[in-house]
Amino acid sequence: MRKYNVGIIGGTGMVGQRFAAMLENHPWFDVKVVAASKRSAGKTYKEAVGSRWTIETPMPKSMEDIVVLDATKDIEEISKKVDFVFCAIDLDKEATKELEYAYAKADCPVVSNNSAHRHTPDVPMIIPEINAEHSKIISSQRKRLGTKRGFIAVKSNCSLQSYVPALYPLSKYGVKDVLVCTYQAISGAGKTFETWPEMVDNVIPYIGGEEEKSEKEPLKIWGEIQNDEIVPAQSPSFTAQCIRVPVSNGHLGAVFVRFDNKPSKQEILDVWKNFKGSAQELNLPSAPKQFLNYFVEDDLPQTNLQRNLENGMAISIGRLREDTQYDYKFVCLSHNTLRGAAGGAVLLAELLCAQGYID
Ligand SMILES: NC(=O)c1ccc[n+]([C@@H]2O[C@H](COP(=O)([O-])OP(=O)(O)OC[C@H]3O[C@@H](n4cnc5c(N)ncnc54)[C@H](OP(=O)(O)O)[C@@H]3O)[C@@H](O)[C@H]2O)c1
Repeated sequence: MRKYNVGIIGGTGMVGQRFAAMLENHPWFDVKVVAASKRSAGKTYKEAVGSRWTIETPMPKSMEDIVVLDATKDIEEISKKVDFVFCAIDLDKEATKELEYAYAKADCPVVSNNSAHRHTPDVPMIIPEINAEHSKIISSQRKRLGTKRGFIAVKSNCSLQSYVPALYPLSKYGVKDVLVCTYQAISGAGKTFETWPEMVDNVIPYIGGEEEKSEKEPLKIWGEIQNDEIVPAQSPSFTAQCIRVPVSNGHLGAVFVRFDNKPSKQEILDVWKNFKGSAQELNLPSAPKQFLNYFVEDDLPQTNLQRNLENGMAISIGRLREDTQYDYKFVCLSHNTLRGAAGGAVLLAELLCAQGYID
């Protein structure tokens, strides 16, 4: 595989730093550009991030002296220097949409962490193991934008990256009704215990906008391409409660599910064990070898013990048992800033490269 030159838009932020750390020594991707707000533009990456570096591993040496560009003013220059950009930026929805369109129209593909375009009908929202074929909509998007190379592809919200991977492979049994409660880490709000001391010894039963995303986004992932858009599925029906808990990283979901044709417990376990998606079949560099991992111990998965499984890219599941109201209940876990944010976007970019969309 050839090497690709890459930019990180929003590279000084929390997710941007994760991109920086994940892309150090990446076999296909070389970071050539970092862009952020005008507050950071003109400074070296090391100066711009300063004491805000939140990752356990040190800042990559190769990035320390990169001079940060202005994400909104330097679009033409950035687009000429790179093959594509990752985008994780803190702007309002309309401004984010416009910024991502501007990069795509400058013929620079955008692999985005932001939510702004998740429901744009010809923008694919992809979990590479689940709905890799949704990338086919890119030709329709390019036609609409009038671009040759440029397009936008997005990853889904971090909250659903534990339960959608567990449920989608069970589609042949007709996943009908899903009730999920998520227990979400503070890094999902871009925070640490130092910057959010109110979260120590506390639970907050509200995360703005999260329940709507957790109920609506799975339907686009279950959706299908019709003409020039991805039409969301009508089912399963999802209902969600999303709770902020005093955990640094890792979102845990407690799931209740009802099927059209109830499988046996063993059938569910076999599906999870044997499931492979395009990410595994194409042997993408960031793909976990075993995507879905079932733990038989009653007290697993635990956020602190399993969140880093396979570099934080695998899903951990446990406690599958029959329920008194639904068919089954179980718990599942994913790392919110790895699989749920930067890692999911890196894997998506690898998929798009392997499929030939970033040539
Ligand atoms: N944190 C998570 O776990 C997570 C998970 C999934 C998705 N996301 C999404 O990812 C995006 C970034 O989140 P984050 O937590 O990394 O945010 P963050 O730490 O606040 O970082 C925001 C980035 O945006 C830049 N920025 C802010 N205002 C700007 C402007 N006016 N023009 C250009 N750049 C500007 C910042 O640059 P400066 O450093 O120069 O200010 C910084 O690089 C958000 O859309 C968020 O919803 C976050």
